[in-house]
Amino acid sequence: MTTAPMPDFPSGFRWGVSTSAYQIEGAAGADGRGPSIWDTFAHSPGRIVDGSTGDEACDHYHRYAEDVALLAGLGVSAYRFSIAWPRVQPTGTGAANPAGLGFYERLVDGLLDRGVDPVATLFHWDLPQALEDAGGWLNRGTADRFAEYADLVAARLGDRVKLWITLNEPFIHMSLGHGMGVHAPGRMLLFDAFPVAHHQLLGHGLAVAALRARSTSPVAIANNYSPVRLAGDTDADRAAGVAYDALHNRLFTDPLLGQGYPEVPGLDSALIRAGDLDVIAAPVDVLGVNYYNPTSIRAAEEGSPLPFEIVPLTGYPRTAFDWPVAPDGLRDLLLQLRDRYGDRLPPIQVTESGCAYDDGPDADGRVHDPERIAYLAGHVRAVREAIDAGVEVTGYFVWSLLDNWEWAEGFTKRFGLVHVDYATQRRTPKSSYAWFRDQVVRP
Ligand code: BGC
Ligand code: BGC
Repeated sequence: MTTAPMPDFPSGFRWGVSTSAYQIEGAAGADGRGPSIWDTFAHSPGRIVDGSTGDEACDHYHRYAEDVALLAGLGVSAYRFSIAWPRVQPTGTGAANPAGLGFYERLVDGLLDRGVDPVATLFHWDLPQALEDAGGWLNRGTADRFAEYADLVAARLGDRVKLWITLNEPFIHMSLGHGMGVHAPGRMLLFDAFPVAHHQLLGHGLAVAALRARSTSPVAIANNYSPVRLAGDTDADRAAGVAYDALHNRLFTDPLLGQGYPEVPGLDSALIRAGDLDVIAAPVDVLGVNYYNPTSIRAAEEGSPLPFEIVPLTGYPRTAFDWPVAPDGLRDLLLQLRDRYGDRLPPIQVTESGCAYDDGPDADGRVHDPERIAYLAGHVRAVREAIDAGVEVTGYFVWSLLDNWEWAEGFTKRFGLVHVDYATQRRTPKSSYAWFRDQVVRP
């Protein structure tokens, strides 16, 4: 597939790819790893569309050297992976499990040997089950446990990880995991899930301090953002848009950037103790932005438990996940963040951007994914437009390096630049892999 030439980016711009532990590692019982909430959830009947689990996933735990070679071949300067908390602390507390940390040390050293910057996320949703049994993120103590875990990781890897990311998408973990029960731990609390927001943010702030005490590398958080598109133009539609925007786009960013909480349903100010907002607002060096699509909103029907209704966004091509392909949403979002937060906004790195399509090998054994190339070309151009409009964006990471275990969708959604045959674990770079290397990264 040929696309028009891709724009140039400032020198030093960081091109990378992202993955997460439970989605690729497998080796669920190896080297003393404890169970996480995703093991429990995936093993509960009816939770995952194809009945699969992450027990083996992409077997990255054993094949990481091959995957590091794929990263080197792609020419990227950074790799964002996540560290599985239950490998480091099998029950979420106490001393580190050296074998668990040893795996990440081998990975980090392998990356550095190949000139790839390790970017480590500390929490990508796989909470140790023992902490869930004690209340999980509904329990304030989990924030302290998270900072202790951050300290253990930084003590071992603080001299080699080049960018720390505390949490991945606390909004999705709150809303899908605790509000709607679609993700682990499967709680359906709707707006009573607010403690999960506050305690994750508190954990973030405490972890920032723990990381700074051990490492001079920059620290970030990766939030999911979705610009709101109104599906109607009544005052009620506009109010619904404001409500959704506060929940999805502001709840985890306003307090982080020192503006306190926005008005959101369920916010229980009794949970917020003196000093919490200062802990949460500890300066970060980078804001990680994960973007997939805008959200189309209109006023809710009378009697709805939600103050808005989410409706399909029309007028865009769609991915295999049925998500609209809307690169203009990424540009709009980056401008919106700049306009909203002004000088408080640190430099942005797009820490996830990508799409699912039903890619498979042709008769010739090659995997052609022109839709992914078109998707990435549009989103990379959107970032360039935002930079031209004055937004400081310093990196872009594709989700994902490999096809992998897509949470409640199991193995049915393929997001990789590299195809994985799950029966054989054979990796086959797709046409988007060569395109991204040759047209975007240009190593
Ligand atoms: C969001 C994605 C998110 C997904 C969770 C979507 O609506 O746009 O960013 O990852 O939900 O599966
Ligand atoms: C998550 C990834 C996920 C991707 C696609 C993001 O919300 O961080 O883990 O695979 O979206 O749904």
